[in-house]
Amino acid sequence: MTFREMLIEDLDQVMEIETDLFAMPWTKEGMFTFLTREDTMFFVVEEKGRILGYCSMQTVLDEGDILNVAVRSDRQKEGIGYFLVDSMLMLAQAQGISLVHLEVRESNGTARRLYQRLGFVEDGLRKNYYTDPLENAVLMTKKQ
Ligand SMILES: CC(C)(COP(=O)(O)OP(=O)(O)OC[C@H]1O[C@@H](n2cnc3c(N)ncnc32)[C@H](O)[C@@H]1OP(=O)(O)O)[C@@H](O)C(=O)NCCC(=O)NCCS
Repeated sequence: MTFREMLIEDLDQVMEIETDLFAMPWTKEGMFTFLTREDTMFFVVEEKGRILGYCSMQTVLDEGDILNVAVRSDRQKEGIGYFLVDSMLMLAQAQGISLVHLEVRESNGTARRLYQRLGFVEDGLRKNYYTDPLENAVLMTKKQ
């Protein structure tokens, strides 16, 4: 299993995972636009040519915002999510990112526990932030 930067050639596999997992998935065009921006970093975990998961972050000065984290449904609960985000945080830290923010659906216990294990602290709530279904966002931050 390898962790590496996402390439444009990965987008078809990434979009398969994205549309499978999210009620309101990013479009391929949106993913492409963010992937090619200077202020973002996108990574995948790959095994024998198969993308198992991906994550990304947008940066401003020394702060980062996690944009997405996803692991294909048949490979969840193996530690891949932890490996993905932990690896991205280490690379971001090496690039001078010292504060990382994210938001997560309040009902997404698996993701909230994952981020807590990675050192994120829940420090805010954005009421009715998500639609389909309408739900609060929990804001989390990690100082690193
Ligand atoms: C959230 C998400 C990325 C987590 O990915 P993951 O690879 O399953 O994460 P991990 O395997 O590191 O941890 C998930 C669980 O598996 C458990 N686990 C990890 N390795 C394990 C192993 N070898 N055996 C058994 N359980 C294991 C973890 O303890 C954790 O348990 P918990 O839910 O009780 O806390 C994934 O569930 C996902 O893609 N969800 C849909 C998209 C999403 O919600 N993204 C986040 C938006 S903010």
